[in-house]
Amino acid sequence: MPTSADYSFEIAATAHSDVEEVLFSAADIAMRVAQLGAAITRDYAALDADELTVVGVANGALIFTADLLRRINLRTRFDTVRVSSYLDGTSPSAAPQFRSTVHLNLAGRHVLIVDDILDTGRTLSQLHSALLEHRPASLRTCVLLDKKSRRQTPFEAAYTGFDIPDAFVVGYGMDFAERYRNLPFVGVLRADRQVAGD
Ligand code: IMP
Ligand code: MG
Repeated sequence: MPTSADYSFEIAATAHSDVEEVLFSAADIAMRVAQLGAAITRDYAALDADELTVVGVANGALIFTADLLRRINLRTRFDTVRVSSYLDGTSPSAAPQFRSTVHLNLAGRHVLIVDDILDTGRTLSQLHSALLEHRPASLRTCVLLDKKSRRQTPFEAAYTGFDIPDAFVVGYGMDFAERYRNLPFVGVLRADRQVAGD
């Protein structure tokens, strides 16, 4: 039987040659995600919500959502929507593209959207409006990161992990051209690595 010590290694926990600076370590993230889960649990319990429907925005928010869900001590339902805004670059190339929609019935339900980064605000303001059409009982948003200085469309999340400056970050689910999602920390991608490949 493997023991817990066998799993105690950290894969690239503090460095990766394509990352110029680690902003949040795996431990920083775990602590903040636990706090967010506790706040969400407390707030919805106070609302007397008998169930919370969590809608994760794929792909970027999948790892954050997986961890956050396990820190929410409520009955939950879970669904995802797929949105692409960046394609291969580090700045949004087009209006966000909704590539799938929710399958769960949201009418009369308490719904929490979970995304990785609130940047220009376009993705979440559009998704928020689209989900409001389902007539949920309540609709809030939780993001891991907020780049407030980049906002073009006004949008505030009810729950935010960390505010960050205007830098392109990868790791903990966030990518550049679908790479680096598996890094356990959030770091700033080196400028010379921000070149589109295939
Ligand atoms: P918005 O519509 O500009 O707010 O775009 C938000 C989406 O862009 C996020 O959900 C991310 O998927 C992506 N994004 C924004 N900034 C970054 C970044 O620094 N690294 C990786 N993805 C990012
Ligand atoms: Mg995203």
